[in-house]
Amino acid sequence: MADTIKVFAICGSLRKGSYNRMALKVAAENLPSGMVLDQYDRLGEIPPYNEDIRQQGFPAVIEDLRRRIKAADGLLFVTPEYNYSMSGVLKNAIDWASRPPDQPFAGKPVAMMGASMSLFGTCRAQYHLRQTCVYLDMIPLNKPEVMIPQAQNKFDAQGHLTDAASLKFIQELMVALAAWIRRLKASAR
Ligand code: FNR
Repeated sequence: MADTIKVFAICGSLRKGSYNRMALKVAAENLPSGMVLDQYDRLGEIPPYNEDIRQQGFPAVIEDLRRRIKAADGLLFVTPEYNYSMSGVLKNAIDWASRPPDQPFAGKPVAMMGASMSLFGTCRAQYHLRQTCVYLDMIPLNKPEVMIPQAQNKFDAQGHLTDAASLKFIQELMVALAAWIRRLKASAR
């Protein structure tokens, strides 16, 4: 379909039982019509950022990451909260991909969400992520803010989301992201 919306999604947790990955799976199962989702699966392969290595050229895993970001109409970040910020592995991936030339984040519509075990559901991590979006000229969607607190009580042992309110927020986020991407595309014509 000519106007299919391609979204590239990165989950910032590496662990198998990640609540954030479960939340991303819910998003993938609830896409609005006309949207396809490319889920990043190579976060654990990314080396720690090193400017000396970058000077010699991006590693292949970073070339692949940058290509997938560039190819997307929009991005979805699903971030855990580590010490009031996004996870280090997510920040490291953004740092690598963001380096010149042609940093691929510029002008990208972005949605974000997160799940944590505390009462605050990644709000502090998401506000840090929003600061990073500003520097890299991304265009983040303001609302809905999808923060899933006490995630250990919202997913069952099989990783299914059992909380109706969280499901509704995730569905609304994906619909809002589709509308945001279409609106920004239309204004760029
Ligand atoms: C955490 N956790 C956490 N939670 C929170 O709400 N605010 C925080 O600042 C932190 N800080 C923090 C630091 C580190 C190093 C770890 C490992 C964990 C708990 C975190 O929300 C919980 O482990 C989530 O389950 C992580 O997300 P995934 O892996 O389930 O997606």
